[in-house]
Amino acid sequence: MAPRIDPSLPFPPLADLHHKHILLGVTGGIAAYKTAEIVRGLRRAGAEVRVAMTPAAGRFVQPLTFEALSGHPVAHDMFAPGTESAMGHIHLARWADAILVAPASADFMARVSLGLADDLLATLCLAAEAPLFMAPAMNRAMWRHPATCAHAAALAGRGVALLGPDEGDQACGETGPGRMREPAQLVLDLAHALAGGGLLSGLRVLISAGPTREPIDPVRFISNRSSGKMGYALAAAARDAGADVALVSGPVTLEPPAAVEAVRVETAAEMFDAVMARAGWADIYVGTAAVADYAPAEAETAKIKKHADRLDLALNRTRDILHSVAALPDKPFVVGFAAETDEVEAHARTKLEAKGADMVAANAVGSGAPGGFDRDENALFVCWRGGECRLPLAPKTEIAHRLVRLIAERYYAENTDQDP
Ligand code: C5P
Repeated sequence: MAPRIDPSLPFPPLADLHHKHILLGVTGGIAAYKTAEIVRGLRRAGAEVRVAMTPAAGRFVQPLTFEALSGHPVAHDMFAPGTESAMGHIHLARWADAILVAPASADFMARVSLGLADDLLATLCLAAEAPLFMAPAMNRAMWRHPATCAHAAALAGRGVALLGPDEGDQACGETGPGRMREPAQLVLDLAHALAGGGLLSGLRVLISAGPTREPIDPVRFISNRSSGKMGYALAAAARDAGADVALVSGPVTLEPPAAVEAVRVETAAEMFDAVMARAGWADIYVGTAAVADYAPAEAETAKIKKHADRLDLALNRTRDILHSVAALPDKPFVVGFAAETDEVEAHARTKLEAKGADMVAANAVGSGAPGGFDRDENALFVCWRGGECRLPLAPKTEIAHRLVRLIAERYYAENTDQDP
């Protein structure tokens, strides 16, 4: 498994960033004092580090601290005389092999998500072509605010790797998600991502997402409320973990994550064909799609006119994609999703057996349920033969990262000879 480090260690022993140029962005948050430790960790791992700060970051930590630790002047004022001639912002953006913004405040994430370039660091992020990593840090309510969730999802969808946040005690005295990930872990995460040594590196992950549309006639169809957000977040998380990802998606309004093979389908039958065509390629299949269980027996070729008082639609069962993938002789590791309105855990276990899946992730849906269809947050009960785990309510991007960790753990547990 990818190494998990003991947070009590002073710096990560496994990180190797020799010859890497890391641009470390610091934004205004109390966790900025911990960023000094990240500079030290990055340098110990062999990286060359330049630091850029937002004006608000300078209210928490003086640029001099980072200058002393990085051994280079700190970039913080876009319009300071001499700045552009020393190392201009485009040059600095090109110099970097990776940018890590830690802490990334809610305000900064929002600005980058909107493509604003109103200070030096935001400008660097916009100008950079190197991978961008962010370690969010903020009060738990700010992290869970729908605006922050939307910005986090937009950033993740565009290929920004969100590292954390972690749960725990916060500087404001509250407890919850929003703590900046520990500096040592951030250094390790970065080293892994840059070395291509992610949790799923070398593996091929096939994901289905979104709803399907079953035509009744040329203008009408049967569908459901699935937004595709969970599947898309999982595709980005699997890609961040180093996997080759193919995403078979029903009709949704989301942009597919960068560097993911996206296949658009409409009906359950098309999704079946697209998934089965790739199932032999995949090491892991995750069926997040809300596939229609029934489709009109025959779609009318002309629009149905409203003459009759009553119209009966004959529906046929669709083929179960998950079950069919799980029944393949050389099947991938199969993860099913279950959306339940009641007795979530019992139904998840039943589904695990009925579908022949290796893992089932279940969530509560329906009125009053906090996560599920068309929401930005989700909470999951995940089970497999011999174990289970609860992932508490969190933005889908965060749930996706946690689920990817669990999937990787179970995948390697069942393919022990392939332990990396
Ligand atoms: O049986 P149910 O629809 O509750 O199971 C949900 C799981 O099964 C999801 O992983 C979904 O993607 C998958 N499924 C499928 N093909 C179907 C129906 C559901 O792959 N026709």
